Amino acid sequence: MASLPVASQIEILDLRHFSARQLRPLLEREAELWRARLRWDYRASTELLLQYLESRILHGFVALDQGRVCGYTFCVYEGHKAVIGDAFATGHRTMSDADTTRQLLTHVLEMLRHSPAVDRVESQLLLFDAGEFADLFAGPEFTVYPRLFLECDLGRPAALPAADVPAQDTPADLELLPWTPQDYQAAAELIYACYVGHTDAQINDQYRSLHGSLRFLHNIVRFPGCGIFEANFSWMLRDRRSRALVGMILSSRVAPEVAHITQLCVAPHLRGRGFGRLLLDRCAGGLLGAGFEAVTLTVTESNNPAARLYERFGFSVRHRFDAIVLNTTSNRR
Ligand SMILES: CC(C)(COP(=O)(O)OP(=O)(O)OC[C@H]1O[C@@H](n2cnc3c(N)ncnc32)[C@H](O)[C@@H]1OP(=O)(O)O)[C@@H](O)C(=O)NCCC(=O)NCCS
Repeated sequence: MASLPVASQIEILDLRHFSARQLRPLLEREAELWRARLRWDYRASTELLLQYLESRILHGFVALDQGRVCGYTFCVYEGHKAVIGDAFATGHRTMSDADTTRQLLTHVLEMLRHSPAVDRVESQLLLFDAGEFADLFAGPEFTVYPRLFLECDLGRPAALPAADVPAQDTPADLELLPWTPQDYQAAAELIYACYVGHTDAQINDQYRSLHGSLRFLHNIVRFPGCGIFEANFSWMLRDRRSRALVGMILSSRVAPEVAHITQLCVAPHLRGRGFGRLLLDRCAGGLLGAGFEAVTLTVTESNNPAARLYERFGFSVRHRFDAIVLNTTSNRR
């Protein structure tokens, strides 16, 4: 198989040359890191990924140290966009894990830059510290968005309820209902409406269309990438008269004792009235009652209304990472 020469004793090869069996030990080490760093049991995602790898449908690269697999990266295509799903390296004898990952990212970015069908690349590098690859993402065609991985210890008395915001009941004209699959379309419409002009729609362009918001929802509810969806701890806020959805909180199980909030949004005209807090209270209260120890979520650092709400609720920063967007059309003209 043809290999691309790079500095040091590292070989970077096409991911599709490798079987799931060859990549499994690396992915299992990565799952251990997800667990230790983010309290996230990544094994369901690992198994799904291994199935895709076995069918050789993922594009990406593998790093080899004297023939031994020591890193990988892959991307998936969504129309004109590519998402770098992961980059991970460990165990090269002379090169640091970060440098091996940098080599892999350099290769996948080069490949995508030269893919005429791709005009946009997105990635959220959750396992790495913000700024770790600042040198790679320095060009004007990149935009980098620092994001926070937050955690709230549900057993801590301060978490429920917060000292400075009085607990609130649902107002008479609204009702709080558990998620049902019938909510799909209306939930996607609400997500789309909530993210118009929002920074998160710069990071993830699925938010910019109804079709994209449906895909986003589908990924959360049906696939294990964001944990196993928990319908019992996912709530819709509905206007009793118009029947319109005006708020929602969605959560998933990411470890036996840890949940992750995958979506929280309130219709623009109802913000600042405590409904975000109400949804958080209901979700966290249910999780606590069911024996969960902690709940986590990610938020864009510049999203002040959300970050403030989470901080007041009792969330604290566990990790700071980067989301990147690459506009590949800017240097092809
Ligand atoms: C983030 C978001 C869900 C917050 O929803 P919200 O309903 O406005 O949240 P709350 O009203 O509970 O809290 C927001 C503020 O209103 C204040 N507030 C709470 N109850 C209030 C009341 N009865 N009257 C007036 N203000 C009130 C809160 O103290 C808080 O103020 P602060 O920001 O100064 O701390 C909402 O802004 C949103 O949907 N944003 C777009 C999507 C998004 O960013 N989601 C989060 C992604 S991680």
